Amino acid sequence: MHAKFAGVGHFVPERVVTNHDLASLMDTTDSWIVERTGISERRFVREGQGTSEMGEQAARAAMKMAGVTPSDLDFIIFATLSPDYMFPGCGVLLQNRLGCATIGALDVRTQCTGFIYGLAVADAFIRMGMYKRILLVGAETQSMGLDLTTRGRDIAVIFGDGAGAAVLVPSEDDGPGVMETILHSEGSHAKELWMEVPTCLVPTTRTPELVAEGRHFPQMNGREVFRHATRRFVEAVDEVLERVGKTRDDVDLIVPHQANKRISDAVGERLGIPPARIVQNVQRFGNTTAASIPIALSEALQEGRVQPGHLLVLVAFGSGFTWGASAVRW
Ligand code: COA
Repeated sequence: MHAKFAGVGHFVPERVVTNHDLASLMDTTDSWIVERTGISERRFVREGQGTSEMGEQAARAAMKMAGVTPSDLDFIIFATLSPDYMFPGCGVLLQNRLGCATIGALDVRTQCTGFIYGLAVADAFIRMGMYKRILLVGAETQSMGLDLTTRGRDIAVIFGDGAGAAVLVPSEDDGPGVMETILHSEGSHAKELWMEVPTCLVPTTRTPELVAEGRHFPQMNGREVFRHATRRFVEAVDEVLERVGKTRDDVDLIVPHQANKRISDAVGERLGIPPARIVQNVQRFGNTTAASIPIALSEALQEGRVQPGHLLVLVAFGSGFTWGASAVRW
């Protein structure tokens, strides 16, 4: 047995924030953002909406497609870097929102790679026979944590809010589903893309000092991230394909974490895979971190780009650094 996708769904907030809107808040331009990132607009939550609420909406869409109700679920995995609270995590908040039984709820903290790590855990639990219907959610509220002034413009223009979810169920070994997942990390680069505050390294009473220094905003070394991302995306695709005895030519669709259009274009070029076989929706949603792969997969399904028998590679790279890929037979 292994895990297969019984349902996939997504949710994005109503509020569209264009590059022009950002240019009214900071010293940037639509052309700079489009040229460097490919992004034209993104969605921002309304205040108080938050990650668990968006996760619930995406989860309900995925459950509808799978034909299951909250009482059918036996485990929840929730990937996010922007939880509603420091603790408890969004997993238990979602369990409460859905009103399911007192099933286990696990939070995954591997940033942009969160959905791939969560998928690996779900697949392993299903292979073990431990659970039969797992809800996997990636959801992110970036907008509330961004520095929307010129000081934060390198990061603020990239990120957006949204959620995606999947219901994973058992499938016969030779049936559709997750074939292999590979996971990696390299913590020596932790501070190339990170958020320092809130921190438990100093007493909370010192938080106002750190906030006054702007250390509660995410920080990124864009060039280093770009350099590592393009290399690791390619390596991860090749590694997972090798594990399942397939080649780049066998892949019907790559569903990459939507980091930035230039990164996905560079990866496609290095892999020799044409744009028609790579999902790109970063133009409309920006980088939604753990939510980006399930949102992209959900849209690709709605557009009929994923068909039974297709070989998909889901691949991500992000803060940590973390990266990973999953080969999935649809
Ligand atoms: N608007 C206008 N100018 C901006 C800007 C913005 N939003 N953000 C930065 N700039 C300026 C910089 O201050 C710099 O000015 P300077 O030359 O006067 O110092 C100039 O633009 C060029 O900055 P640089 O960092 O060299 O640009 P870049 O070509 O490396 O592009 C990124 C910046 C962030 C778009 C690019 O590095 C990138 O895509 N990195 C990967 C980011 C990513 O995908 N992160 C998520 C991974 S999961």
